This record gives sequence, C-alpha cells and structure tokens, in this order.
Amino acid sequence: MLDELNRIRKSASLEIPAAHSSERLEALRIQFLGREQGALTLILRGLKDLPESERKKVGAAANRLRTDLEILFAHQRETLKKGAGTSRLLSERLDVTRPGIRVRRGHLHPITQVLRKIENIFLRMGFTVAEGPEIETEYYNFDALNIPDNHPARDMWDTFWLKPERVKSERLLLRTHTSPVQIRYMEKNAPPIRIISPGVVYRYEATDASHDIEFWQIEGLMVDRHISVGNFKAVISRFFSDLFGGKVEIRLRPAYFPFVEPGFEVDVMCLQCRGQGCSVCSKTGWLEMMGAGMVHPSVFKAVGYNPNPTTGGVQGFAFGMGLDRLVMMNYKIPDVRLMRGGDLRFLKQF
Ligand code: DAH
Repeated sequence: MLDELNRIRKSASLEIPAAHSSERLEALRIQFLGREQGALTLILRGLKDLPESERKKVGAAANRLRTDLEILFAHQRETLKKGAGTSRLLSERLDVTRPGIRVRRGHLHPITQVLRKIENIFLRMGFTVAEGPEIETEYYNFDALNIPDNHPARDMWDTFWLKPERVKSERLLLRTHTSPVQIRYMEKNAPPIRIISPGVVYRYEATDASHDIEFWQIEGLMVDRHISVGNFKAVISRFFSDLFGGKVEIRLRPAYFPFVEPGFEVDVMCLQCRGQGCSVCSKTGWLEMMGAGMVHPSVFKAVGYNPNPTTGGVQGFAFGMGLDRLVMMNYKIPDVRLMRGGDLRFLKQF
C-alpha cells in the first residue's frame, strides 16, 4: 500500500506541474482524487479492510499525500491563471507606434466660411466687428432709424412681433435687419466709427427658393467729420475686389431707405458674363448686392450726434447686404432654404 502511495506521489508530482491547461489539470484531479475512481480515493476507501496496525500508518500517509496533492493542484491552478493573464496581456498589447484611425472632422458652414473672409477684408481696412441682439425693441429696429410707427416705410419689413409685446412699454420683435446695431453702437461710442455688424435677421414671409424667414445680413457704418460717397465707393470697391478676386466693377443706383439720404442700391457687374447679360444676372449684366447711403441726419440726432458738418458735426455712410445670396452665388447654390435645412448631404459638399 505504501508503495502504491509512493507511486502516486511520484507520478502526480511530475504530471501536475506539467499540466498546461485547466482541462488537463482537471483530468489529473479526477485521476488522483476523483470521488469515484480516483487512485488515492480508492486507497482511502480500502483502509477499512486493512489490519489495525497497518491502517494507521497507511491512513496517515494517504492523508498527507492528499494534502500535498491538493496543494500541488492549487499551485498549478494559480500558475495557469497567471499564465492566462500573461497571454492576454500579450495578445492585447498596444502598439503605440501604429498609425491611428483617422477621426472625421467637421468643418465650417459655408456661410461662416464666407463671413470670415468678409470680416478679414474689413478688418484690414480698420473696421471692427460689432454685434447686437436678435430680439430687438421697436425703437431700435424702427423709430431710431427714422421709421416712425404709421410711416408707410414700415411695410418694407414684414415683422415677427413677440408676446408679451412690451418690455418697459416697448414692443419687442425679431429684428428685421442689422441696422439697429448702428444705433446701439453709436449710442455707446463717439466718432470716428468704422464697424461691420454681421448677424441673423428675420422676416415674416412665405419662403421660396430665394426667400427665407431667417437669413444673414452684414451691416456697415463709417462715421467721421468728412466722410463722403467717395469714401463709400472706395471702401466698397476694395471690398468686392478682395472678395471676388481681381477688379470688380460696381455702380450705384438711387434708392429709398428711411435711414439714409441719399440712398442707393449697389450693383456689381455680373461675374458670370462680365456685363453681357446671362441667366445669373437675369440678362441685366448686373447683380444687386446691397442697400446703402449717407446716414440720415435724423439717425444722428437719435443717438445724440451733431449732424451738421458746418458746426463741427459728422457725416457717414452705412450699408446693409444679404450674406446668404453672396454665399449662394459663390457656390452656385440654387435654394436659400438649404442653408438652414441641416441636411448633411448638402453641408458635406463645402
Ligand atoms: N436695412 C436694410 C434692409 O434690411 C438694408 C440697408 C439699406 C442697410 C441701406 C443700410 C442702408 O445700412 O444704408 O433692407
């Protein structure tokens, strides 16, 4: 019996440390310690048939062997677990020198792209960028710009009025143009002034391919002692030439805006046909770009400026242009509503 125990001890101490999988280790455990047929189990079970004197000796040795085997098994189980950890470490090792997966970047909206270009051109000419609120009071949007209530000129702007309609007895609205920023800026600053003011404006009207209820404008304002229409032409020619690249022909046509006198529309010679007349310019050879004029004395009075040059007062020009149309021309976009539609198939093209 003792020989048998020694044999088991010998083979177990060779085979258990050599078991390289948990399946193999389990098979060995069953082989030696299995409850039914384990080699050691059979010996322990046979103890009762041994004579008293031998039973004690063999019993003690068998129990020692069982404890030793259990330690061997536990140890090997631990070794296998660690080994599994190591191989997992190896298989999941990070090669930090491998090139990464390129992250897809977003990009600026076409309106923002063109706006930045425009801002840069004006910044180079010494203008700064000023902003104003999109929710305006009736005073800033209309009255201070020489458009009193009951004046027919109010019909030029279809307005979204807000409820509650009054704040400090003022009616609120979504600004219909960026011109109120002129007033807000002049109230807080003294001449000389050179600003542009880009921003979103709102009109209450039916939408179609060239009209939206929400669109961008850029306002411009230059005020000083001796500013003239000549200065305006110089600044605006430079602007269009820089924007479109190369010499651009412009012309001024008389037009009416309540906050300027004289007022004009500014046309740019059609870039497509160079004045010959084509589908882009509806055969006129010219593209209408902005409204402009010399700031009306009533507007200067509203902000507390002296509008009389002969007594040390100021003069100035102002202009307002639609940004969406410029962008549409630039990229040949057929429908203004695409700008704010949020359709990625459209946006990804720029
Ligand atoms: N605010 C005008 C509009 O929305 C555009 C405009 C015209 C602005 C003449 C000006 C200007 O500053 O002088 O239709």
